[in-house]
Amino acid sequence: MKSNLKVNFLGTELINPFILASAPPTKDYETIRNAFNAGWAGAITKSIVLSPTRNKKSRIGHIRHQNNIIATQNYEMSSVYSPYQWKEWVIRLRNEFPDRLIFVSFAASSNIDEWKFLSESFLETNVHGLELNFSCPHSDHDRKGSAIGLDHNLCASITEAVKKTVGKKLKIMSKLPYILHPNEGTVAKMCIEAGADAIAGINSIAGLCEIDPYELKPKLMTGDKTTTVGLSYHIIRSFGRLVITQIAKTIDWKRYPISAIGGVSRDIESIIDYLSLGANHMQVCSEVMNHGVEVIDEMKATLLQYLEKTGRTIDDIRGKALPHFTEWDKLDSQDRIATVSDDCTNCQACISYCRYNAIMPGAAKINIVDKNCDGCGSCYSACPNNAISLN
Ligand SMILES: Cc1cc2nc3c(=O)[nH]c(=O)nc-3n(C[C@H](O)[C@H](O)[C@H](O)COP(=O)(O)O)c2cc1C
Repeated sequence: MKSNLKVNFLGTELINPFILASAPPTKDYETIRNAFNAGWAGAITKSIVLSPTRNKKSRIGHIRHQNNIIATQNYEMSSVYSPYQWKEWVIRLRNEFPDRLIFVSFAASSNIDEWKFLSESFLETNVHGLELNFSCPHSDHDRKGSAIGLDHNLCASITEAVKKTVGKKLKIMSKLPYILHPNEGTVAKMCIEAGADAIAGINSIAGLCEIDPYELKPKLMTGDKTTTVGLSYHIIRSFGRLVITQIAKTIDWKRYPISAIGGVSRDIESIIDYLSLGANHMQVCSEVMNHGVEVIDEMKATLLQYLEKTGRTIDDIRGKALPHFTEWDKLDSQDRIATVSDDCTNCQACISYCRYNAIMPGAAKINIVDKNCDGCGSCYSACPNNAISLN
């Protein structure tokens, strides 16, 4: 049987589980139209504000490790286009692509009237819903984004006010930041109780760009100064996994779906990570910013290949890894030590990872000195051949 990539999200059938996150790949009508033509299942518009501002030049950079880009960083602000312009664009997009999901993203201040005004403006556009941006990390100057996300009660009050404004006409999805840990589940629950239909997370994560060791200046600057950046791409997936897991453990994710964001790419691990932790679908930003909308073909093919190889459906995967997560004090206290299998190639890469003098070179394979082994697991995780296990 041919595998199926369709996903039901709040009553709308997504043609595949990949939608564009609010960011440059959804910056205007034409960009979204091109992405839909390429096969993306939906888009969250670039965050819309009441008073658009000009962006700084430059504002986007990349962090490399051994010549690979592992992170993208930016201090781009919200959309430079007005709500009126966006209203016209989303109506057109809904008419031209009736089978694609469109959510409008807002970034407003702690003044709830701003959120109400923006919500009212899109009531008659026939979009599927609104994403409330409680999570942009570089809003130190205007107290929007993650400044709101940190205030649990404010997140709930804004969600409630928007829900009252749009009623059943539009779905609401609150987009949460990473910095809520360990309270991400609590805030997600508060948003759901206040009327959110779904939860999205995470946004990019606050950081500072690298300093050039010879110039002694930041590598990402506007003129000769830099500011807080938002980190995204592969490097933030670990943070995304944590937040999605904490949310999935707290809310009823089958009823209130989770839209997972953070380092989703063409790597199958990044896709299965989030589905297995309970996500309904994934939002993608940096992979598209860095490699173009065409990556959708590879993402779909990679997932299809995985489903066909394993004989699983997306529903079979969803949430399956969640029971393996618990609090530290609920982990068992059993003793375990490392053992080596015949797959060991004697490369001895593991030796430098052992801090207990428990690994000795051998003739054909490494030897574990049982009495020294603490069972910490570092060698097991470092072995390139999966030849060490803990027993
Ligand atoms: C240049 C840039 C601009 C972004 N603008 C927005 C925005 O306007 N609103 C928003 O909610 N998130 C914005 N984001 C965050 C993304 O939607 C996404 O949450 C984040 O990049 C993590 O996903 P990724 O690892 O796939 O890039 C932006 C990200 C980047 C890189």
